Amino acid sequence: MKKIVASAMAITMGLSLVSCGSEKPDTNNAPTSSQKKTVGISMPAQELERWNNDGEYLKSQFEAAGYDVELVYAGNNSSRQNNDIMGMIADNVDLLLIAAVDGTTLSTTLEDAKNKNISVVSYDRLIMNTDAITYYVSYDNYLVGKLQAQFLRDQLSLETTAGPYNIEFVAGDAGDNNAKYFFNGAYETLKDYIEAGKLVVPSGMTTFERVATPDWAVDEAEKNMKTTLKSCYADGETLDAVICANDSTALGVTKAIASNYTGEKYPIIIGQDGDIENLKNIVDGKQAMTVYKNVNDEATVAFEVCKRVLQGEVPTGKLTSEFAVPVNFDSETYENGVKHVQSYLLVPEVVTKDNLQLMVNTGLYKWDDDNKYLELVK
Ligand code: BGC
Repeated sequence: MKKIVASAMAITMGLSLVSCGSEKPDTNNAPTSSQKKTVGISMPAQELERWNNDGEYLKSQFEAAGYDVELVYAGNNSSRQNNDIMGMIADNVDLLLIAAVDGTTLSTTLEDAKNKNISVVSYDRLIMNTDAITYYVSYDNYLVGKLQAQFLRDQLSLETTAGPYNIEFVAGDAGDNNAKYFFNGAYETLKDYIEAGKLVVPSGMTTFERVATPDWAVDEAEKNMKTTLKSCYADGETLDAVICANDSTALGVTKAIASNYTGEKYPIIIGQDGDIENLKNIVDGKQAMTVYKNVNDEATVAFEVCKRVLQGEVPTGKLTSEFAVPVNFDSETYENGVKHVQSYLLVPEVVTKDNLQLMVNTGLYKWDDDNKYLELVK
């Protein structure tokens, strides 16, 4: 059986989705104009590289399959997102695909969707406190943090050396359910080393609440790291590593290090996403690694799940075998306060300066003219 692959070209060259390995748009089940259905896509923010990519790619896939699409970005503002979604419900969309700004603020609005029989699929971030959502499509968020911590463990040879090494944590936005998974994945993997004194957290900030970064903002992460540097590292103390929940926070930390760090050893800075600026920092040795999530693969899985829901099917674990990339079906891990949400979880990868070619191989990135940095294929 041919596997479903993400098409790198669909977004970059305006071509249609190549699905199931065919060379033409997958229009087999495309609705005719009289029964054309509409998909409402709500993304958190256009400003962040990844959401822009997710939104455009999803739109291109649905349109190529014959659906109408309403795509909106919420500017990282949860009230705006609520209004956007209310508007799409009023427009009688057939399905809502939502990456929530704040997963805790949508339950009332989604009650209306449920009453109108509009299917809701939660994208990347789990929507909390509602039974209106039927599926959740994301990367394995806990594994993201775990991979970050395992990378650090290996870099510092924590199994074989005594340390102690100084480390700090920087988490994501507290309203984003993912952020806790990233933090817990990293913290729980390193906990034994912290308890054994091999790793020390000089700031004492070892809980998610204390290291959360509002809006995942670069500026906030920079400001917080400057404060930490000032209070704990002002006399040239070594900061060995910073685990940052994603690349925007890693960027803020890197800026703070550049301006306010006086230690001799440059810290191991770890992020997530594979944003262009961070990939440049990886080449330049300013960031050690990023956990890469190919958002076209994530969008492709979401698209396939939504397509089946729109066709009246009930996707199950069987669907996972149809994808060219590993996807796990999980009905236990993600509990949203009301129910365990059936989840399709993709598997993230570690990217360092040694395997940047892996990103080029996705077709989404290319080397620049000097073969030094990566750029987006656009
Ligand atoms: C996503 C990350 C992203 C972060 C900030 C998280 O929910 O999973 O990929 O970096 O939001 O937008």
